[in-house]
Amino acid sequence: MCGIIAYNGQDDAVPYLLEGIRNLEYRGYDSFGCALDSKVGIIIKKDIGKVDDVINKYKVQNLSSNKAIFHTRWATHGGVKTENAHPMIDCTHRIAVAHNGIIENWAELKESLGGHKFISDTDTEVLSHLIEEKLNKGADIQTAVKDTFKQIKGSSSFIVLDKQSEDLVAVKKGSPLVLGIAKNGNFLSSDVPSFVRHTNKVVYLSDGDMVVLGKKSYSITNLINKDVKHEVSTVNFSAKHAEKGDYEHFMIKEIMEQLGLMKNLESTDFKDVIQAAALVKNAKLVYLIGAGTSYHAAMLGAKALRENGINAVAVQGQDLITYRKVISADDVFIIISQSGETADIINVLPLMSKNKKIGIINSDGSTLAKEVDVFIPIGAGPEKAVASTKSFTLSGVYSTLIAMFAAGRNEDAIHDLKLMNMNMYNLLVPSVLSAIDKAAEKIKGLENVFFLGRDSDYIMALEGALKLKEVSYIHAEAIDAATFKHGPLALISDKVYAVAIVSESNRNDTLYNLQEVKARGGNIIGISDKNENVFDMFIRTQEGGSFGFVMQSIILQLLAYKTSILKGINPDRPKNLAKSVTVK
Ligand code: F6R
Repeated sequence: MCGIIAYNGQDDAVPYLLEGIRNLEYRGYDSFGCALDSKVGIIIKKDIGKVDDVINKYKVQNLSSNKAIFHTRWATHGGVKTENAHPMIDCTHRIAVAHNGIIENWAELKESLGGHKFISDTDTEVLSHLIEEKLNKGADIQTAVKDTFKQIKGSSSFIVLDKQSEDLVAVKKGSPLVLGIAKNGNFLSSDVPSFVRHTNKVVYLSDGDMVVLGKKSYSITNLINKDVKHEVSTVNFSAKHAEKGDYEHFMIKEIMEQLGLMKNLESTDFKDVIQAAALVKNAKLVYLIGAGTSYHAAMLGAKALRENGINAVAVQGQDLITYRKVISADDVFIIISQSGETADIINVLPLMSKNKKIGIINSDGSTLAKEVDVFIPIGAGPEKAVASTKSFTLSGVYSTLIAMFAAGRNEDAIHDLKLMNMNMYNLLVPSVLSAIDKAAEKIKGLENVFFLGRDSDYIMALEGALKLKEVSYIHAEAIDAATFKHGPLALISDKVYAVAIVSESNRNDTLYNLQEVKARGGNIIGISDKNENVFDMFIRTQEGGSFGFVMQSIILQLLAYKTSILKGINPDRPKNLAKSVTVK
């Protein structure tokens, strides 16, 4: 989704914002634009295409300014064309606006702006003209922004550069916006890693916040709820965590980071997990809510809760609406999200308004993190590849820990964590890495791949299929191995490949189902801790007790990554996808 970064201070904004906007590219975009304050008025450069191409085309690196906004656009309203790239200006070229979000009532607002000259098809452009309208009537920039904010419906965060003001003015609602307080100036951005090299002091803004960003100071007022507190937080990761280091891609860096992150869990006190376990123990029903990969983590958690005697169900965010008549006040919600900004979940928060909420969330200060009663930080650090890897496995682990702690099985949980970490040393040995390479080599030329498994292996099949689709563009479909006989078996021929995930707990049943595939000529790539006759190719995973899915997952992630590389795709930025999905 769109990325915004702005700076106002004593230094030249351009180098900061060039670095910052490149760091926001992972969010997904189709156009880049910038607005810089200058003695001759506002300079706007914008175009469709890659950030670096647009920057080089317009020589943005040769410009300088102390006050500027850079923006990447992910088209939602209006096609991919230069005029639709942000920032948007008003008729008099006094202001420039960069926006992230959707203005739901843009049509009626545009209707009310007769006489204004619109140059784009975007909803965003109503903002610049609405603000202009108020400035023309004598309002100052802060009042004009505040009154405009009150007129718009939907989730919208935007930053306004006014050539007649020393300050930048911004408002946040729905879409993420954080304030960074640096030595010689201040930042506003869609995320912290984009400016963390220059400061680790941040204010996580709340919905309704209006920020007046001066060169040396800033002020924040909340336009919806004046009691909101704006504490300055110190972030505990450095720029190094948000960089690729020696890795070729963020995706492989983030896959490999899981080994250390899992080990770190052994020295965690799990205070927040204990609090969460106390809540779910007394719940009538526990709903685990997520989207995409985080929904798969929710499925792992729901299954673990049920197996530990607690009634639980995993629901995709947008589907919670179908439960609206049955949600009761004694139910507890567990929200799982890497970004904490997923619209499908934010939109259904009102359905949980009377319930206790636990959040397993990677982004501190995000919209969802602020809404929950118990916040369990995933602690994965910045995840920049579009496909979620480390956040998924850690969310699965945390939701399983909640289940085990709620059943009083704390010791089993710690034992299994240690078992997983011990066996992790044997996971990525050369024979396994070369088996993954061989499987990727086979898969890269296919148009379709099945992923099969039963029980929690089926959840991993869903996740493995999603990863492969995302980064290799191969159609991958996960099917519960037990249900193959109810129809999909008709598709099997000697051209068909299936990745089968086989755990000890359901080995015999899954092997029985795989024989049916084999008997019809199908080829099987087995992921298991034991080789089996039915496998044509074999990738060994390791035993991990309740957390065996972590190791299966790492193998599936590597399989997707390697296939992507063999196909010449950049796995960090798959086409059409955005990291943080803030639209309906
Ligand atoms: C897949 C992926 C997406 C996200 C989904 C939810 O690799 O990353 O499916 O899991 O968009 O995002 P979050 O976790 O930020 O709520």
